[in-house]
Amino acid sequence: MAMNTPSLPSTPFAPQPYTGPTAAAVLAQRQQFLSPGLVLYYQKPLMVVEGKMQYVWDETGKRYLDGIGGIVTVSVGHCHPHVVAAAHRQSELLQHSTTLYLNPNIGAFAEKLASTLPGDLKVCYFVNSGSEATDLALLMARLYTGNYDIVALRNAYHGGNASGMAVTAHSSWKFNVPHSFGVHHALAPYPYRGPFGYDDPAAGHKYADDVKSVIEYATSGRIAGFIAESIQGVGGFVEFPAGYLTETYAHVRAAGGVCIADEVQTGFGRLGTHFWGFATQGVIPDIVTMAKGIGNGAPLAAVVTTPQIAATLTSKVHFNTFGGNPVVSAMGQAVLEVIEREGLQVNCRELGNYLKAGLENLKEKHPLIGDVRGRGLLLGIELVKDRATKIPAKAECAAVLEAAREMGLLLGKGGLWGQTIRFAPPMIITRADADFALAVFDAALTRVAG
Ligand SMILES: Cc1ncc(COP(=O)(O)O)c(C=O)c1O
Repeated sequence: MAMNTPSLPSTPFAPQPYTGPTAAAVLAQRQQFLSPGLVLYYQKPLMVVEGKMQYVWDETGKRYLDGIGGIVTVSVGHCHPHVVAAAHRQSELLQHSTTLYLNPNIGAFAEKLASTLPGDLKVCYFVNSGSEATDLALLMARLYTGNYDIVALRNAYHGGNASGMAVTAHSSWKFNVPHSFGVHHALAPYPYRGPFGYDDPAAGHKYADDVKSVIEYATSGRIAGFIAESIQGVGGFVEFPAGYLTETYAHVRAAGGVCIADEVQTGFGRLGTHFWGFATQGVIPDIVTMAKGIGNGAPLAAVVTTPQIAATLTSKVHFNTFGGNPVVSAMGQAVLEVIEREGLQVNCRELGNYLKAGLENLKEKHPLIGDVRGRGLLLGIELVKDRATKIPAKAECAAVLEAAREMGLLLGKGGLWGQTIRFAPPMIITRADADFALAVFDAALTRVAG
C-alpha cells in the first residue's frame, strides 16, 4: 500500500558498513541457543547493529529514530562520546575490583548521584539491574521496620526476579509459582481506566484511601513499606492524580512503613519538570530505586536511602560482585555530567510539552487515541477500539508499531493488553525529531485505521 512516509531529519553520522551475519542467521542462532522465553518485537524481527545518539541502524543501513531507547535506558544517546570515553579510559586502567578494595570511582559517582537527591537520601548501594534494586529495597524496608508486608500497586512493574515479580501486578509477567507472600496490591491510580477519573478533583485522595483500606483490611496494620513507580512504565505511562503520593505516604508512615519510589524509568530529568519523578507529586521517599537511564546502557542500578535505613544492612554481610564496578561507575558519573552540561532536563521539558500538544491534536483527528498522557520525554498514547467502551485496541497498537518501524520510528508498547504506545527516546532528541515522530504517529494511525 502506498504510504505517506515522513522523512527522518538528516544526521552527520554515517554507519559503518555491516559485514556480520544476516538477520536470518542471527535469528536461527537465537532460536537454537537462547531461551525461548525471550520475546521479539515486530513480525519481521529488527536487527540493530549500530547506534549514534538518537538513531540506530539495522544491518541494511536503514536508520531509525529510537523512540524507546532500549526500553527507556538510553538516556543521553547511543554511544554518547563522553560516556564512551569514560568507559574506555577506565576499561584500560582497571575493569573490576569489587567493593572489598578501595577505588575512587564508586565514591565519586555516589557523591554526585546523592547530590541530585533531596533530604537525607544520601547513601547509595549499587547493583546491576532494576530487579536487584527492587529486591534490595524491599529487604531494607523489612529490616528497618521489622515488618513484612508490602503494599504495591496494580498495573505496576518492578522486575522479573522473585521479589520484583511479587510486587509487579500484571498477570502477563507473573509466573504461576509462589512469590507474593506478604504483598498486597492497591488500586492503580489510573485516571483513564480506574474508578476515579480525570474529571474527579478528589481522585488522588480516593486512590490514596484505597491504600489505607488495604493496610487496614489485608495486613496486621503494620507494614514494611509501599513501593510505586512515580509514573507506571510498563503499565503504559500512567501518571497519578495530584496529591496521591502525599496522602498515600502519610498512610504508609502511619502504619510504620517506609516509602519506596521506583525511579527506574522516571528518573534523571526525563520528566522535564523535575529530576526525579517523585518530586512531581511533592513527596520525599525513604528509599529510591534506579536503573536503566542511570547507565545509558551500562549494567548499573542503585538503591539510595537514608543513613538510618542503610545501616540495617550491617547486621549481616551483604555483597554484590559487580555492583558499582569501576567501569560502570565511571559511565554513571559521565551520564550525570552529560545531563547537566547539555541541559537535557530542559530539553525533555520543552520537547515534551511540544510533543504532548502535538499528540493532543492528533487525538482530535484519530478516534483510535483514547488517552494521551505522561510528562517530558515519557509519553503514552493509549489506543481504544471505541472511546465510550474503552475496549483496548491491542492489535491496532501492534500495527502502529509495525507501520512506524517501516517509516523509521521505533516505539515501545505497554499496558496490560499491550494497548498503549510508549514514546521515551534518548533525552537529546531535537525539535526536528519531534516533528518527525508526530508525522509518523499521524501517518501510522491513519494507515491502521484505514
Ligand atoms: C519501573 C521498573 N522497575 C524495575 C524494572 C526492572 O529492571 P531490570 O529489567 O533492569 O531488572 C523495570 C524494567 O523494566 C522497570 O521498568
